[in-house]
Amino acid sequence: MRRARERRDPHLEPVQPELIDSDCMTISELEESIEKYFAAGPAVSSDPEAMAAFLALRAALERGEVRSASPDAAAPTGWRVNAWVKRGILLGFRLGALAELPGGGLSFVDKHTYPVRHFSASDGIRIVPGGSAIRSGAYIARGVSCIPPMFINAGAYVDEGTMVDSHALVGSCAQVGKRVHLSAAAQIGGVLEPVNASPVVIEDDVLVGGNCGVYEGTIVRKGAVLAAGTILTRGTPVYDLVNGEVLRASDESPLIIPENAVVVPGSRAVTKGKGQEWGLSLYAPVIVKYRDDKTDLSTMLEQIVRLGMK
Ligand SMILES: CC(C)(COP(=O)(O)OP(=O)(O)OC[C@H]1O[C@@H](n2cnc3c(N)ncnc32)[C@H](O)[C@@H]1OP(=O)(O)O)[C@@H](O)C(=O)NCCC(=O)NCCS
Repeated sequence: MRRARERRDPHLEPVQPELIDSDCMTISELEESIEKYFAAGPAVSSDPEAMAAFLALRAALERGEVRSASPDAAAPTGWRVNAWVKRGILLGFRLGALAELPGGGLSFVDKHTYPVRHFSASDGIRIVPGGSAIRSGAYIARGVSCIPPMFINAGAYVDEGTMVDSHALVGSCAQVGKRVHLSAAAQIGGVLEPVNASPVVIEDDVLVGGNCGVYEGTIVRKGAVLAAGTILTRGTPVYDLVNGEVLRASDESPLIIPENAVVVPGSRAVTKGKGQEWGLSLYAPVIVKYRDDKTDLSTMLEQIVRLGMK
């Protein structure tokens, strides 16, 4: 591994350490190296070798070669968390010094290990001007559309043809599949710590409606539709009217929305105590049906804005 350039006063003039040629290193060597520097704690905060290992990880994340979570048919949820990758992302925060970061007229101060990413036309990604940022260490596939303002955090993975609409957030380590629509103000929560916690996963062809929130490692399976305003967390029971089941997270598993489910925001009566006496209800997402032709028609309009993307 080549050595990163030595740092001077990081608070005034942080040096961007030279990128290493990570092709010289296998993924398991990179993993070993990240684990070593993470385990060393704050002592590595100005160690150029630790910086070089972090930069190799960051570059591999941006190329989509490593992910904070990967599909794994053998895992109970179908997704395996790569805790060492999350440790590496945390290492980047430990190694980062606050620095003034350049940016179109506005001034920003953030950890210099996570500057804003830059793209060119050859990347095949559309980024409409105005108030958006994609942090280093995020993977964005070709054909992704980013409508301002929106933010994609470190460790996130956004696959081909996905639309990230205005005011949408893709939190740290979130895994977003192909042809997903994250509608205006959809919030996909970040799950960086604890490192073994599953990130939020939005699988291929999901529509996340406007103002939705998906948090705490929830998995939304292929083709599902979250109607505008649906909020999902580990603690949210989901009422499946079609199969007569209540879906919940457990100690072993996050909340999982089944393939092609159409989930709308609803409410349920409180049936005990003061809540009952006062006639209160609690928010309850409801699976009203599984995707049908009408759903395809309702969601088709959303595709039009993506036409022309390759
Ligand atoms: C979910 C959605 C796609 C509709 O899907 P659909 O398959 O056409 O649903 P249907 O119209 O057949 O409705 C099925 C049932 O759910 C109910 N329902 C549908 N959407 C609902 C919603 N958003 N909230 C509450 N109930 C809803 C319907 O009333 C119907 O119940 P009923 O049979 O008792 O009347 C649509 O409501 C939606 O939320 N679209 C996303 C809009 C959006 O966020 N756009 C992004 C802009 S940037």
